[in-house]
Amino acid sequence: MAAPDSSIEAGTRHTSPDEDPSQAWTDLAPDYERARSREDSLDRLVEWPAQRKLLGDVTGHSVLDLGCGNGGKLAELVAGGATDCVGVDITGNFLTTRPPGLELIRGDLSEPQSVHGLADRTFDRILFLQSFGYAKDPVRTLKAAREMLADDGFILLTRTQPIRYALERAEQNGTSLGEEYFATGRYTYRTGWNEEIALTKRTYTISDLLNAFSAAGLYIETAIEPQLSEEAGCRYPHKREWMNTYLGILIFRLRPIPGT
Ligand SMILES: C[S@@+](CC[C@H](N)C(=O)[O-])C[C@H]1O[C@@H](n2cnc3c(N)ncnc32)[C@H](O)[C@@H]1O
Repeated sequence: MAAPDSSIEAGTRHTSPDEDPSQAWTDLAPDYERARSREDSLDRLVEWPAQRKLLGDVTGHSVLDLGCGNGGKLAELVAGGATDCVGVDITGNFLTTRPPGLELIRGDLSEPQSVHGLADRTFDRILFLQSFGYAKDPVRTLKAAREMLADDGFILLTRTQPIRYALERAEQNGTSLGEEYFATGRYTYRTGWNEEIALTKRTYTISDLLNAFSAAGLYIETAIEPQLSEEAGCRYPHKREWMNTYLGILIFRLRPIPGT
């Protein structure tokens, strides 16, 4: 799937990380949340349980969720004892009912310190859950997030296994995994949440990710590649087949490198 940068096809809306993605995500948001809430969604079966486990006890901790979607995950953290939680998303497609202690702000995660109301605030936990790829300058954004961490705070960052996108492109283009994995530039990606809307994404490799963490002065405390449980795999064999082919996501707990 080679990357037409921002071409417009009839009936298809495109966006890229360097353009304004808000319209495409505003259009996608209801479909994304609908897909996420299905009982067989991988977010529900694999990703959120693993993200939640790596977050640990959130009692009394403040949480900033950058690219928070409708804010549903943050609302669960507030119910679990988190305090002073803020979600930021470009769409503003937020939960209509919010518990006390949860603030949802429409804004761009690329410059978190410039989001209205966030200057000079710090947080115990900062989340990029499948949203880091939308940062205009990933290292700059991570550095800014690092500056917003309270003492002993950490960043929880999840990204799709880049091998998954490379494999999908290899299948579509009749190319090899290596050619696509090491390709540079952009590609158009239809999410499956809504075939009418295409996002234009940058390619990345595992080393790109690791180098971004180092350049931002962060080290990996823990990394996991969560999988379906045996029980969920039996219940949803189509999801087991998908995970066995495309691997899923990577989750990192990142902390500031002391003295940097
Ligand atoms: C794949 S969804 C993940 C949503 C949520 N974090 C979750 O785990 O379910 C990506 C989210 O990033 C948001 N997003 C995309 N670009 C953004 C930007 N520049 N600033 C803030 N949010 C952005 C989208 O609106 C969408 O809600």
